[in-house]
Amino acid sequence: MTILVFDSGIGGLSVLREARMLMHDHQFVYVGDDAGFPYGDWDGAALTERMVGLFETLLACYQPQLAIVACNTASTLIMPALRSRFDIPFVGIVPAIKPAAERTASGLITVLATPGTIQRPYTKELVKRFASHRQVNMVGATRLARLAEEHMQGRQIDTAILQEEIGPCFVELDGKRTDIITLGCTHYPFLVNEMRKLAPWPVDWLDPAEAVARQARTVLARDLPEALHDRPGSARPAPDIALMTSGSPPSPIIRLLAGLGLHLQARDFPSLSVPR
Ligand code: DGL
Repeated sequence: MTILVFDSGIGGLSVLREARMLMHDHQFVYVGDDAGFPYGDWDGAALTERMVGLFETLLACYQPQLAIVACNTASTLIMPALRSRFDIPFVGIVPAIKPAAERTASGLITVLATPGTIQRPYTKELVKRFASHRQVNMVGATRLARLAEEHMQGRQIDTAILQEEIGPCFVELDGKRTDIITLGCTHYPFLVNEMRKLAPWPVDWLDPAEAVARQARTVLARDLPEALHDRPGSARPAPDIALMTSGSPPSPIIRLLAGLGLHLQARDFPSLSVPR
């Protein structure tokens, strides 16, 4: 069986890593829409149209049994559109607001995400439902996803920009301090080590990637129980594939994908050549 993992770039690799560990019997197809990156400031309707067009092609070509939208900016917007249009199960990723609200000791939590994710009604609803008894600081970062892409390409990142972007995450109020920062973008776990070093005080950085992989496995077991016992005897799943919509990712990304055991493929997306 094939599982598709989608993001605007390499951020979704943080989810792919967990998904591969929990669902090792399956083939994975990783798709990075690097031609549309960054998703953070796309208009909602245009992004929905773009992603529905991409999924038309992806589902027709790879026929996955499940798709993971490993992008908060997309998941907080587009899940209803994907579920009503296509008939495979979709699993999305959203900022871990509920666990942060449950675990905080100081009562001060921060959601760090792209501006798109921060302003979505879906994200605001999560805060209202699960964290209205907490002080929730919403930080929309305009440059972090790009910094993560640079970092993953082995480039030196500008720590002054990183410092500026994470500065507003740290709040002191009535003698209390932010103690949890929820990473609301799948790119950010790749920067967590650098962010940790710049933090004015220690905090927990919450990454929902593992929870999303577990949810995907639960959905597979529920909707396609036969998928979990798919492999006859010693047959191995087909090789994992990566696909970048630009068709020409930079060479460090090609090496990164190869190092992760992903076979890079090229594909045309007819919806991308239709003038908007
Ligand atoms: N990785 C994406 C997310 O989880 C978005 C990064 C971007 O394209 O701005 O939100």
